[in-house]
Amino acid sequence: MTKPLQITQTNIPPGFIDLGAGEPQLDLLPLEILRNAAAHRLGLGEREFLQYGAEQGDGYFRLALAKFLSPRYGFQVLHDELFVTNGISSALDLLCTLYTQPGDTVFVEEPTYFLALRIFADHGLRVASIRTDESGLVMDDLIHALSKSRPKFVYVIPSFQNPSGHTLPPERRERLLALAQEYDFLILADEVYQFLGYTQTPPTSFGARVDSGHVAALGSFSKILAPGLRLGWLHAHPEIIQKIVTCGLLDSAGGLNPFTSAVVRSLIENGDLDGNISHLVSVLGRRMKVMDEAIKRHLPQVKYTSPQGGYFFWLQAPGVDAQELQKKARDYNVGLRPGIRFSSQNGLRDYFRLSISFYDVDEIEQGILRLKESLNEK
Ligand SMILES: Cc1ncc(COP(=O)(O)O)c(C=O)c1O
Repeated sequence: MTKPLQITQTNIPPGFIDLGAGEPQLDLLPLEILRNAAAHRLGLGEREFLQYGAEQGDGYFRLALAKFLSPRYGFQVLHDELFVTNGISSALDLLCTLYTQPGDTVFVEEPTYFLALRIFADHGLRVASIRTDESGLVMDDLIHALSKSRPKFVYVIPSFQNPSGHTLPPERRERLLALAQEYDFLILADEVYQFLGYTQTPPTSFGARVDSGHVAALGSFSKILAPGLRLGWLHAHPEIIQKIVTCGLLDSAGGLNPFTSAVVRSLIENGDLDGNISHLVSVLGRRMKVMDEAIKRHLPQVKYTSPQGGYFFWLQAPGVDAQELQKKARDYNVGLRPGIRFSSQNGLRDYFRLSISFYDVDEIEQGILRLKESLNEK
């Protein structure tokens, strides 16, 4: 039998509630505003966006993006300090290509976004993990690790972290910056959930400190518009931007994603991006509240901190092997992501991650009930 052709990265069987899935539900992807933006752009009669693009990214798009970001960040973002990417994943890959050699070290949070670990592995990088607490990176542990090895990068997800949901407070951000200057490493700040605050506004973007020359702040349209666009931005000191725009890849390919940038420019300029973010914050904020209440009611044995934004709940079930729980949960048609996936040292075995991104409130409640049965099975 031939395999069915696949369009999306994951295919969840009907009836299964995969609370581990970290991608947005199809219903949250805004077809209408993208249709309007594409019609606007294609109707203008201009063809430049169909050409090889400027290496740094479409200048008008960067201008629109800088204008969008400035009031949200609370400081002036300069379009010269923005580089257009294919999203955070490819920005990480490009930075590894340009800044590292196999055998170099990168520090990551424990836990961290497991797919970033795959990218670092592709580049032969050694990964050292730094402990985190409810406020993110533990600074004493970072300082201790710096006394032993010198990383090229410290990779952090400072706002509503994946998977923990934790946010790094301003004092720790300042300390991290001071250490980056002292020990000469680059902070890769993955800010994919920066605009998805429901009950808290996180501290501003690391982009506020690009002047230090030790920051690459990475943004993405994946969680505020649609992952299929493969569009994001890197915000950094012009010297870093210069190193990127003169690389071989861009010399041959031109700037990344000029077509999509031009469409998204229309959507930023007509205010639809603001509208979409408000919509997401309202829908996801409600889901987060519902999941929080359902966990409190039905899973009294788990320990966690209620997240204030982003997609994820990070739960600890003391004494439970989450990989075993995942197997049991499959029989109840519910999914989760075991903590070990987010550990660079095969730890965190009694943790697991749940997400609010893929299901409506009714399915979230149903999923938690199924999880309760899985957890209670002897
Ligand atoms: C922390 C984190 N970084 C990066 C990504 C992927 O971002 P992009 O789609 O921009 O490559 C995700 C997606 O789940 C994520 O959670």
